[in-house]
Amino acid sequence: MVSNLEIAGSMTIRLDRDLPEMPDFVPGIRRAPDRGFRLSPAQAKLSLRNILRYIPGEYHERLAPEFMEELKNRGRIYAYRYRPPGRIYAKSIDQYRGRCTAGKAFQVMIDNNLDFEVALYPYELVTYGETGSVCQNWLQYRLIKRYLEELTEKQTLVVMSGHPLGLFPSRPEAPRVVITNGLMVGLFDNQRDWEIAAEMGVSSYGQMTAGGWMYIGPQGIVHGTFNTLLNAGRLKLQVPPDGDLGGHLFVSSGLGGMSGAQPKAVEIAGGVGIIAEVDESRIKTRLDQGWVSRATAEPDEAFRLAGEAQKQKRPLSIAYHGNIVDLLEHALTSGVRVDLLSDQTSCHAPYDGGYCPQGLTFAERTRLLAADRDKFKELVDRSLQRHFELIKALVERGSYFFDYGNSFMKAVFDAGVQEISKNGRDEKDGFIWPSYVEEIMGPMLFDYGYGPFRWVCLSGKPEDLAKTDQAAMSCIDPSRRGQDRDNYIWVRDAQKHNLVVGSQARILYQDAAGRVRIALKFNEMVREGKIGPVMIGRDHHDVSGTDSPFRETANIKDGSNVTADMAAQCFAGNAARGMSLVALHNGGGVGISKAINGGFGLLLDGSERADETVKSALLWDVTCGVARRAWARNGNSLSTGIEFNESHAGAAQITLPYLVDDELIDRIG
Ligand SMILES: NC(=O)c1ccc[n+]([C@@H]2O[C@H](COP(=O)([O-])OP(=O)(O)OC[C@H]3O[C@@H](n4cnc5c(N)ncnc54)[C@H](O)[C@@H]3O)[C@@H](O)[C@H]2O)c1
Repeated sequence: MVSNLEIAGSMTIRLDRDLPEMPDFVPGIRRAPDRGFRLSPAQAKLSLRNILRYIPGEYHERLAPEFMEELKNRGRIYAYRYRPPGRIYAKSIDQYRGRCTAGKAFQVMIDNNLDFEVALYPYELVTYGETGSVCQNWLQYRLIKRYLEELTEKQTLVVMSGHPLGLFPSRPEAPRVVITNGLMVGLFDNQRDWEIAAEMGVSSYGQMTAGGWMYIGPQGIVHGTFNTLLNAGRLKLQVPPDGDLGGHLFVSSGLGGMSGAQPKAVEIAGGVGIIAEVDESRIKTRLDQGWVSRATAEPDEAFRLAGEAQKQKRPLSIAYHGNIVDLLEHALTSGVRVDLLSDQTSCHAPYDGGYCPQGLTFAERTRLLAADRDKFKELVDRSLQRHFELIKALVERGSYFFDYGNSFMKAVFDAGVQEISKNGRDEKDGFIWPSYVEEIMGPMLFDYGYGPFRWVCLSGKPEDLAKTDQAAMSCIDPSRRGQDRDNYIWVRDAQKHNLVVGSQARILYQDAAGRVRIALKFNEMVREGKIGPVMIGRDHHDVSGTDSPFRETANIKDGSNVTADMAAQCFAGNAARGMSLVALHNGGGVGISKAINGGFGLLLDGSERADETVKSALLWDVTCGVARRAWARNGNSLSTGIEFNESHAGAAQITLPYLVDDELIDRIG
């Protein structure tokens, strides 16, 4: 048997040998709820054994009881003691240690995800979406940083559910970092088994960009929410192509990591929004950031303020401090007309605290979650059932309800409401109301390849961001399509809307050609020394990269919505074409076993290699999804496919489907 001395001696990259002091927890910083302790005695021992793998033997005696207490009281071992003291945030890339630019760049990206200003539960390494984590514990965080400091252009760091497996030889053209999160073998690919794996410290829920290190604060979703609301207005409220949501009311819930984008987006779209939020601290954060304009705990006042703004066609966002179900009860009894209706509680994990049941305050919800999970589940189910009834009544009165990608309708179904399923039996044929992807995002954006392209100016300089905004604008022709016009206006006004929270980042919906044009332009600017290096990436919530039948691929209707080939192909293709980072996750946005999603990061360092990667990888990253949509016979993606084949004749081709006469199928089938 080898000794710990030999093991330590064989590793040159390792954690400092000193035992850090337990850091003070800054008061007022949100803390994750107890996730529950479900392990058998043997599993609990294994969990302890697992975490101690990171630590030299001389500290085991001291740390074992501390870690066991964390496991029993918090449902996870975060190794709080190893959180570096002080503020963690995205510093300028020059302030990081590293042997290659990518190694330093990824430290900027990770630190942004854990900034007190940005992250949902920074002490528990949760960036957003109730459970979306950068990695599982502070030991992993420290070790990943050490590896990134040592990473060279000829190595690849492998990260498996937060655990840095090691640095391996590769080539400059290969990714510098390959990440997977929460992937489970089919038989065990369910929330329960994953939960046990997470408690044992061997799996992590990366959400989308939390564990993919590409989160850019709530801005990341504002543009998509703006597009969704505006296009919902065009589709259902007769808003003209060049009009806005002036005079219209949107009601939803959640002012968390992503949901916090809703008030900002509705104001940018010119409308009025009331967003319910049970947690007062999140309302305060959004008020302080200027992401919501007013707040009240009185539903009457919320609707009165909204009504006045609607009359004057004045944009306004209002946070209602309370439960969304209570707000909807009020809307129904007082006869208010709600034009657009949605929900963005963390329904991908309703029983883990993501959905606060009607009748409980936020503090009561946290206490009950720790004390009696069965009772908590019972209340969640009852609340979701009532929530459903209220939406149904409002829809009958003319509201347009859409599921906003948080698995709300699936959660309602799981709460026992069979009526929400289209076939009245199961979820296989979808639900009675559309998801925003089915009616809005899919046909109007994804089919053309438009998706959430984003970039981060690694210098941390606002001037660099302003220059990139200008450069991006110069790459868009606003007269080409309505979508281009929207995107042009978005980036033109982005600075004015004060969207930055955390790193100097921007989101901008673009199609394949637009993304390539903009990235090449940025790389040229870096080469010419006009700006510092830039990291480009995207949300996993895109035309490509994510197979998620309740969300991104909700409008794939050829039966392949239950497959995950596209996400895997997108990931592999991006790795093969030399993206700097590639990530593949289980469950992003909707919960374990309900999606496979992936993303990338590409460092623009001004090199020719970056130019070549942009041309091949960025094009692939988008076109993979368009091709899959086209093969599924999705209307607008067929014309995008034809256009692609014509413009890339001889260099690339998408296989396109022949169309079949419905009458023939009905006759023979
Ligand atoms: N549509 C998209 O593009 C998209 C993108 C990312 C995430 N999501 C999904 O949206 C959901 C929310 O994401 P997030 O990052 O904002 O999560 P979050 O957990 O940070 O925020 C959800 C908020 O809802 C509040 N809440 C819970 N129950 C409530 C209730 N009954 N009434 C009022 N408020 C309540 C919580 O207090 C919390 O602040 C997740 O399921 C996520 O997966 C959607």
